[in-house]
Amino acid sequence: MSSNPTLSRDRARRFYDRLGAGQDSQTWYEAPALARLVEQADLAAASAVVEIGCGTGRFAAELLDAPLTAGDPPSGATYRGFDLSPTMVDLARRRLASFGERARAETTSGEPPLPLADGCCDRVLSTYVFDLLPEDEIAAWAAEARRLLRPGGRLCLAGIAPGTGLGSKLVMGLWSGVHRLAPVVVGGCRPLHVAPLLGDGWQVLHRSTVVAWGIASEVLVAQPAG
Ligand SMILES: C[S@@+](CC[C@H](N)C(=O)[O-])C[C@H]1O[C@@H](n2cnc3c(N)ncnc32)[C@H](O)[C@@H]1O
Repeated sequence: MSSNPTLSRDRARRFYDRLGAGQDSQTWYEAPALARLVEQADLAAASAVVEIGCGTGRFAAELLDAPLTAGDPPSGATYRGFDLSPTMVDLARRRLASFGERARAETTSGEPPLPLADGCCDRVLSTYVFDLLPEDEIAAWAAEARRLLRPGGRLCLAGIAPGTGLGSKLVMGLWSGVHRLAPVVVGGCRPLHVAPLLGDGWQVLHRSTVVAWGIASEVLVAQPAG
């Protein structure tokens, strides 16, 4: 669960530029955690969603197809995704093109603020991104999420986590060891409990660990307290 070393922003950008569409091969362990996140995030009630680290736009396309169009009448929620990697943004733009004005993907320098107004959205999503950031950057992105969220809005996260049972403890222990030796081998991601790193003033609405093929992911839904 060590927080160091993390990939520098420049190395992360180069890694994900190279990986490109290969990121979608991670679905075998991500999909069950993302399904849990969708269950818990009440996306059908959302009207505007912002994603930090949108990758190839795969999750966004799934959401825009179903939960973000649910409701009667259909909510037709909007989506804005941001990513450090120009290659990922290019892939996401192509994947989301059919959603027209509802969905946009843009590059970010990798640090807040995003070019968005205070209180512009009701969900901030980030999946398998906070787990590769240094702790101070996790707190900075959480503060940015607080700025972007309207009252009642939610921060919705999934990421690599410490194991729970014997099997996943072994697998995630091995993952941590690899990360300590060569973070780039695991894309910079390390097993993390993210809630204590968000900073004060978050009310946790849901927190659970999902294990798929020995790989543990933490799902967290929180809202600004007070
Ligand atoms: C492990 S991938 C996850 C992608 C996607 N969210 C998913 O679940 O498939 C991490 C993504 O975060 C992006 N990223 C890394 N650091 C970032 C930062 N500081 N700001 C924005 N995006 C970042 C990477 O370029 C990459 O697309």
